Amino acid sequence: MRNKISVIGAGNVGATTAHLIFQKGYADVVLLDIAEGIAKGKALDILESGPVQGSDAHIKGTADYGDTQGSSIVIITAGIPRKPGMSRDDLLITNMKIVGEVTAQVVKYSPEATLIVVSNPLDAMVQHAFKSSGLKKNKVIGMAGVLDSARFRTFLAEALKISPKEIQAYVLGGHGDSMVPLIDYTTIAGVPVSKLLPKDKIEAIVKRTQGGGGEIVALLETGSAYYAPAASIVEMVDALVHDQKRILPCAAYLEGEYGINNLYVGVPVRLGASGIEEVLEFELSTSESALLKQSAAAVQELIDIMANSSA
Ligand code: APR
Repeated sequence: MRNKISVIGAGNVGATTAHLIFQKGYADVVLLDIAEGIAKGKALDILESGPVQGSDAHIKGTADYGDTQGSSIVIITAGIPRKPGMSRDDLLITNMKIVGEVTAQVVKYSPEATLIVVSNPLDAMVQHAFKSSGLKKNKVIGMAGVLDSARFRTFLAEALKISPKEIQAYVLGGHGDSMVPLIDYTTIAGVPVSKLLPKDKIEAIVKRTQGGGGEIVALLETGSAYYAPAASIVEMVDALVHDQKRILPCAAYLEGEYGINNLYVGVPVRLGASGIEEVLEFELSTSESALLKQSAAAVQELIDIMANSSA
């Protein structure tokens, strides 16, 4: 039997992710949304692309959590996206309620699943899903760092006029304006970026990366990014399904690593079949370490707001 992967939320991010996984053919997909017709219509449309694209996987659209039963991976994209002028934090309370409800349903039917949380504000939502799920911390992962690093790599590749495939980079911290691109660990074919680009150019690229999601929101006007987010989710799914042991920046629950406690923050992790198999503690410069702590403090503020709102 193929793996079963469920995607909750059949909006832009969810449907694009479901399509990409379907194309790979290694898993059957369940696409769930409260808007049943949207989930069913998009799933049927994706299914009908199978004969042309050579995928013999199955995909089902539904509003019934019973259909997600026995999923090995569940991707949570349900919630509202940003509109121009909004920060990710403006989505907090609305998406907290949605993510809490969704997570409770998901674990009822798939208690063995690994959850990948995508709804924003990401770090707060993944923490909320972790607490609501009762799952072990290695099984609840947030998607943000892969996307932020992809944006960083894209802008570096443009500046250097080289393939982004040659660039290794890690963006850590919360998925917000305080994210922390690690310059010392950013290499181009093994060469540190600081040897190839002047400091002010790197700083400008870091700034653009930090505002990368907002740049797209401002252009779209009606929602937020989804092609690069979906591709980033699928890179994580590949690592889980194929036990690839990839080192990817993901939001992980920290218990002392990087001096941060009881909080989801983006850090490099080893991703394999059992989820987060290890949090890697890169040696950070004093300023990077301070920025990471600052970023964690911004996430903690949101956690505190959520705690007060449900108290
Ligand atoms: N249960 C299931 N689905 C829900 C629920 C719920 N309780 N509440 C909302 N949804 C669905 C909506 O019906 C919609 O189809 O979630 C979907 C969200 O889709 P979009 O509005 O297109 O948003 P999208 O761009 O996909 O972003 C989803 O991911 O990147 C983040 O910030 C983004 O939080 C946002 C999320």
